[in-house]
Amino acid sequence: MIDGDRIKDIIVLGGGTAGWMTAAYLGRALGSTVGITVVESPSIPKIGVGEATIPNLQKVFFDFLGLPEDVWMRECNASFKLGIRFVNWRTSGVGDATARLRKGRLDHFDHIFGLLPNVENIPLSHYWARDKLTGATDEPFDYACYRQPIAFDRKLSPRHLDGTSWTSYAWHFDAHLVADFLRRFATKEQGAGHIEDRFVHADMDERGHVTAIHTETGRRLAADLFVDCSGFRSLLVNGTLGEPFLDMSDHLLNDRAVATSVPHDDAAEGVEPFTSAIAMSSGWSWKIPLLGRFGTGYVYSSQFATEDEATEEFCRMWGLDPTEQSLNHIKFRVGRNRRAWVKNVVGIGLSSCFLEPLESTGIYFIYASLYHLVKHIPDRRFDPVLIERFNREIESMFDDTRDFIQAHFSFAPRDDTPFWRACKDLRLADEFAEKVAAYRSGLPVNMPVTNEANYYGNFEAEFRNFWSNANYYCVLAGIDYLPEHTLPLLEFRTDAIEQARAMFADIKRQQAELTAVAPSTYDYLCQLHGKR
Ligand code: FDA
Repeated sequence: MIDGDRIKDIIVLGGGTAGWMTAAYLGRALGSTVGITVVESPSIPKIGVGEATIPNLQKVFFDFLGLPEDVWMRECNASFKLGIRFVNWRTSGVGDATARLRKGRLDHFDHIFGLLPNVENIPLSHYWARDKLTGATDEPFDYACYRQPIAFDRKLSPRHLDGTSWTSYAWHFDAHLVADFLRRFATKEQGAGHIEDRFVHADMDERGHVTAIHTETGRRLAADLFVDCSGFRSLLVNGTLGEPFLDMSDHLLNDRAVATSVPHDDAAEGVEPFTSAIAMSSGWSWKIPLLGRFGTGYVYSSQFATEDEATEEFCRMWGLDPTEQSLNHIKFRVGRNRRAWVKNVVGIGLSSCFLEPLESTGIYFIYASLYHLVKHIPDRRFDPVLIERFNREIESMFDDTRDFIQAHFSFAPRDDTPFWRACKDLRLADEFAEKVAAYRSGLPVNMPVTNEANYYGNFEAEFRNFWSNANYYCVLAGIDYLPEHTLPLLEFRTDAIEQARAMFADIKRQQAELTAVAPSTYDYLCQLHGKR
């Protein structure tokens, strides 16, 4: 490549989480020889409900920008997330934030971050499944195989008061504060431009590339590469370039949310270090604890509940008065653009794809798109091979996650409402159905190629193995969709079975130890945020 072909100017259209993550990440990855300008309309609100994340965010994103965890956590009112607790996914009834009783146990299961250990190259999950299927244990998968459920129950912090951590964890935060924080960082520390103006239309050349955008106040802004972060409007990719959006409501039924924020007495009740996903009559509700409040929203299907019905069930669950409470009603589209990158425009964030936030993957999708954009960064010739390869990565990332999320609804035993019954009739993608068949036959699905210490810092490895055996077990065994058979190989491994038993006993010991030594999440966050 000769320097004349190098990308010199990039315009990012949109200043939500996607827009400012893009400006900051590209600023660091491409350096100061590229001009980056974010154009956003102050009169068009950001979606701003992206409040739960996954663990790689610090290592692959904030560390890359040189931003220490405690610094951005303080700025963004962040708290900790050890995983997701699914509540009432197996028992009938209207929305209830308290787990119902089922066969003498509370109806909840935990989807925990991190990888499961192997014993003689067989994941611990499979030793548990053998015990479970032969009647040797009645203990749920999560409590048997992980330390973390005890920390969920006792609201323990993943970090000790000296700052060291005992497990992988992610964060809850205020998405508006994150966008503001990254805007200050990108504009002040990295020299990104920031124009507050409204996009009206774009100029294109004879190749169909966008050459400039025009704004409401009459500006004409030219660039070599455009990143469309304009949210669900997808102004450049769907709008200017006319790329079709592939609707995937034949996989996932939910298309609406009603969201709000509820004050919380942390001193009296503590702060839960996990996201809750509470099953409702026609969908599910998230609960995301932050200091002093929690964010919550009911994600539902408009085929099965009207806005009024959803609002009523949601407000009743939290004891809120719908006539007094400030409620945010959101319509969303489920699916992805046929191509995420078209000509010289790359869609990132909601303008590119969206899945309901059941596994908190929105911000992960943004990061993954940025990682692959940098890996495939073109020059001004826009080699179609780079574009094609980028698009394939985004396609497989999205479709794989869509299928994994669909499995939560397909295999949950609930069938007490038309919504839950309709979920059972949706078709699973063939490739995914094969994975489920492997799981049912007793085989591990997607065994990780690395250990946990390397997993979250090596994005290439994580990306190719995102939903690994541990994720499948947490969710499918969690909803009681068990393998039909034990892994036959285990019957040749009596030594390994003994080793696994010792590991189960050690997990119990570690759970007891944690209870004794880990501080509460509330105490840790008060120390971090200087609240006491
Ligand atoms: P967003 O809509 O926030 O921003 C669009 C930007 O474009 C705004 O700055 C707007 O002003 C600008 N714009 C629009 N039109 C314009 C015009 N004409 N001219 C100029 N500018 C214009 N993710 C996650 O990781 N964890 C989670 O828990 C959740 N939860 C969640 C719940 C619900 C109900 C939804 C709908 C989404 C989530 N997400 C999520 C996803 C998350 O919210 C999302 O990925 C990020 O907020 C990114 O949003 P964007 O920046 O793409 O769009």
